Amino acid sequence: MNELKVDISTLRLKNPIMSASGTFGFGYEFMEYYDTSVLGAIVCKGISKEPRRGNYGNRIAEIDGGIINSIGLENPGISEFLEKILPMIKTINTAYIVNILGSDLDEYLYLAEKLSELPRVDAIEVNISCPNVKAGGLSFGKDINLIKDLTRRLRDIFPKPIIIKVSPDLPYIEIAKICRNEGIDAITCINTIQSLLIDVEKKTFFFNNLYGGLSGPAIKPIALRVVYQVAKEVGIPVIGCGGIMSYKDAVEFFMAGATAVQIGTANFTNPLSAYEILKDLMSYLEKNKIHSVSELRIW
Ligand SMILES: Cc1cc2nc3c(=O)[nH]c(=O)nc-3n(C[C@H](O)[C@H](O)[C@H](O)COP(=O)(O)O)c2cc1C
Repeated sequence: MNELKVDISTLRLKNPIMSASGTFGFGYEFMEYYDTSVLGAIVCKGISKEPRRGNYGNRIAEIDGGIINSIGLENPGISEFLEKILPMIKTINTAYIVNILGSDLDEYLYLAEKLSELPRVDAIEVNISCPNVKAGGLSFGKDINLIKDLTRRLRDIFPKPIIIKVSPDLPYIEIAKICRNEGIDAITCINTIQSLLIDVEKKTFFFNNLYGGLSGPAIKPIALRVVYQVAKEVGIPVIGCGGIMSYKDAVEFFMAGATAVQIGTANFTNPLSAYEILKDLMSYLEKNKIHSVSELRIW
């Protein structure tokens, strides 16, 4: 019998398979395919203070090996989340992690405070790949001093696990070291990778906002690199994410040093992906007489 439970600091997950933010709605939408309570955790779409309508024009493109999205962080805002969405997820019987985003420091702190008292919210995942309005639109995560301030103040406000999500476009090792020193519980590696797509027929850039975020199988080797480096060099728990389409991909992330993994783009090609990856992972562990995913680490 294998032990699927994993701990993200004080949060015990029944298994290490989660949904990735922005690819699984709020969790209840996938109930028509399977009972999403079977997953180790649900990470919801990123929530901001006010509702955001997202970007105009093209929002998603399929390319070889993945997709590029320019959704623009569309979401209903924290008030609607608390009033309408929280009651709908009450029946989902697994850990619930709320992904938050901000355009300045105060917005992140406001959201963390609002979520801190809610029993249904087990942890927050902080998306720091957002444009920082006060710094002229530079990605929030690129300002190391701000990250230090943010992580310290979040830690003061939010008593449950805090997860910071990084992308390879950021100085992720430096960020992970700050997080470790400020008592952050885990790092999610990785968010989408900034990409450019050109429409050769129209002779224009494909997205109104110029860049989009690449996800799917094309980014898996990069995600594995980041997971390995952060787990090994920084020694903070890592949640692996990026191009996981099958249990074999998930096993690679555990071998690289991940404590748990998230399934993103795969949900779009097959809504049962996360469930199937969990089932297949269990069979793999059973067949290979491995008792826990932590035994898979190869270093
Ligand atoms: C359409 C779409 C929307 C996303 N929205 C968010 C989001 O709101 N917050 C966030 O932190 N990551 C978001 N992501 C990033 C994913 O959670 C994940 O980190 C990334 O897609 C890489 O994993 P994958 O290759 O398995 O999709 C989004 C990704 C996609 C494709």
